[in-house]
Amino acid sequence: MSFLELFKRPCLIGAHRGYNSKHPENTLSALEASIGHCDFIEVDVQLSRDGVAVIMHDETLERTTNVRENEAYKTRVPYKLSDFTYAELSSLDYGSWFYLDKKKFEPLLTLKKVLEFVKENNIYINIEIKDLNDTFSDVKVVASVIKEIEASNTKDLVLLSSFRHQYLPLCKKIEPDIPTAALVEVRHPKPLIEYLKLLEVDAYHFDDALVDEATVKKLRDAGFFVNIYTVNDKKRRQELFDMGVNGVFSDYLE
Ligand code: G3P
Ligand code: MG
Repeated sequence: MSFLELFKRPCLIGAHRGYNSKHPENTLSALEASIGHCDFIEVDVQLSRDGVAVIMHDETLERTTNVRENEAYKTRVPYKLSDFTYAELSSLDYGSWFYLDKKKFEPLLTLKKVLEFVKENNIYINIEIKDLNDTFSDVKVVASVIKEIEASNTKDLVLLSSFRHQYLPLCKKIEPDIPTAALVEVRHPKPLIEYLKLLEVDAYHFDDALVDEATVKKLRDAGFFVNIYTVNDKKRRQELFDMGVNGVFSDYLE
């Protein structure tokens, strides 16, 4: 099996950063809650200062951790994730304030833990590699992520994606068996199909604001799988599926 097998099924729902409307995003709680409510999970991966692959969306720690409450880190503004070691990141809370009783300390989630989780639950995972170009070489980033996937023997469950398209041919070079997807937010690269072929990707992920039926058809006819983010409205999901879109990333999984 591989993520490409999953793409044979229609109307896929991806749990965006886990079930992030019910639990803090990109935490193990959010992943656990998504089981049974989605076809695959999406998480964002970055590297700590000492090279540990950790799960977080933003470049800085303020929004999703309690870093500002920690006296020890008050000189570390703007709290860039890649300035913090794994040990330092492990000391932070990743969203207990999300819950009304605020009692549940939310620990750091690592890529290693995510891969253990997907293996245990036999659930597909889209690992989005954040653009770490200002801190680490492309090879370092891609090799670090793929090394963990190989070590955990989970490549059959994984789809790798990135807004930094330079990572994608590198992924294929290091591990051709793992499917890849190019992510786009603002405008489609031109000429789109030729561009995606050069990247050797299997799928194309783009913002709902960029969707039109002709582009979806062109992509599907050329053999690319299409996933759209972030789609929380059920009617809109169905419109996209009717156009031929394979899957949507969603914050709400009810
Ligand atoms: O991978 C789909 C989606 O997660 C891309 O945007 O900013 O939520 O990581 P973002
Ligand atoms: Mg993402």
